[in-house]
Formats: sequence, structure tokens, C-alpha cells
Amino acid sequence: MVNPLNDAQANPFEIAKQAAQQIAEISGIEKHDIALTLGSGWAKAADLIGETVSVIPATEIIGFSKPAVHGHVGTLRSVKLPSGKMALVIGARTHYYENHGVRAVVHSVRTAAATGAKVMILTNGAGGIKPEWAGGAAVLISDHINLTANSPLEGATFIDLTDLYSKRLRALAREVDPKLDEGVYVQFRGPHYETPAEVQMAKIMGGHIVGMSTALEAIAAREAGMEILGMSLITNLAAGIQTTPLSHEEVIQAGKDAEGRISELLSKIVAKL
Ligand code: HPA
Repeated sequence: MVNPLNDAQANPFEIAKQAAQQIAEISGIEKHDIALTLGSGWAKAADLIGETVSVIPATEIIGFSKPAVHGHVGTLRSVKLPSGKMALVIGARTHYYENHGVRAVVHSVRTAAATGAKVMILTNGAGGIKPEWAGGAAVLISDHINLTANSPLEGATFIDLTDLYSKRLRALAREVDPKLDEGVYVQFRGPHYETPAEVQMAKIMGGHIVGMSTALEAIAAREAGMEILGMSLITNLAAGIQTTPLSHEEVIQAGKDAEGRISELLSKIVAKL
């Protein structure tokens, strides 16, 4: 099926609104309060944060495409939190490297905003530049450097990105785990991992985390007026920092190993929202 987002004349916000209406109709949930995108290693959090009331295959919703990566679950889940608030859990991330266009990359975030969500939690599996993060550290994203040379904003849409990753939400996360470190996330295009030289470039630029998602989504979330919390699971040390070759299997395994621990951490953070 052709994705209507690919029609340059189409309004991506209208399509996100339609997607939100479909989610409301199918789930019976009129409005969501927060949204979470769960990347590699974070999926279990969906089970821990509350009671699942609806699970929709994302491909049933307008604008969503099939997930390309093994290990990513393509569902949109409505979860009732103990506070009574509703969370929309997005297990269907479209990566920039899939070449479906930036609109497709940020469609889930725009849809979440259209369902009413005011807080967007973006999680991912990523490479770490700081050696002390070896062994599956969970870190807060404090800022980002967008190396995709692209933006989800179309036309002359000037959006402030100061405090893009909310200080308030980072402080809240540290109430749960005071030892949580933070760093600047650098989004590369992928899907190849970085060269050691590119990792050194990211480091010199002020980066601490390298990955293939999140920055474009955060920009769209900010445009939609949401407050953003970003968290990375360091599945490996970045190329050249770690001397052994990187592999997708290693990344998936590190996610599995960390899953219980980091999902519990995230569910405790969500309980504070
Ligand atoms: N680089 C980019 N993306 C990643 C990495 C990495 O080292 N690990 C997991 N996702």
C-alpha cells in the first residue's frame, strides 16, 4: 500500500490526526497523556508501567509502515498507568535509514501528539563514547547533534531547541536513580555503524552517544509542543572505542541482557510523571 505521507501535497499533521482518530476508535481510548517510543532493549517497559488495554498492529493505522528491524515490535499499545493516566506505547519506529522519508520517521511522534500526549519519552539502543558506559549503561540524553542533514520541519518553520530534552524530566529520572549519567546524542544516518574516525569526530564535536534515531523525532515532538525525555541504552562502546567489531547480534543481545533492569528503571520514572 502506498503511504499517503509520500504525497508531497498531503498534510502530514492531517494524516497524524486521522491516525489518532483511528487509534481512538479501535482502542476506545479518547485521549493519551504520555507517549513512549521503545527502542532496542526497552520493550519490556510496556508490560511494567501499567495495565495494557489495547494493542493495535501499527500497520492498521494510516501512515505507519512495517518495521524493518528484527527485534522491533510493530504495535501501538494503550496502557493505563496506576495514576489513571493513559500512555501510548509506540513499538513501531521507522528509522531514517529505511528511506521512507522524514515524514514517516516522525509520524508516530506526531500521531502521539494528536492523541493528546504532552510528554514524549524517546528511548533507543546506541553506541557509547565514554568507556565507563561499557556493560549496558542506561543514560539520559541531555542534547543532540543531528548529522542527518535533514529536518522534519517543512518550510520556514523556526523552532527553538534550547532545553529540547527537558531538564525537569531529567531531574525526575534522577530522583529514581541519582547515578544516571547523561550525554549528547549524535544521530548518524546509518544503517552502517560509524567508522572509528566518525566516532572521534562526534567526540570532538561534543558528542557522547552515537545512534541512528531519536534526534529527528525529538525535533518533531518539540514542534508539537511536547516535553521530551530521551534515554539511551549503551549496547556497545562505539567503533574504535571498543576494539572488537560491532554487530547487530551484539546490540540485540546487549538489549536482552539489560531489558529487565532498564525497563524497571523506566517504569519507575513513568510512575513519577
Ligand atoms: N552506532 C550507531 N547505532 C547504534 C550503535 C552504534 O554503535 N549501537 C547500537 N545502535
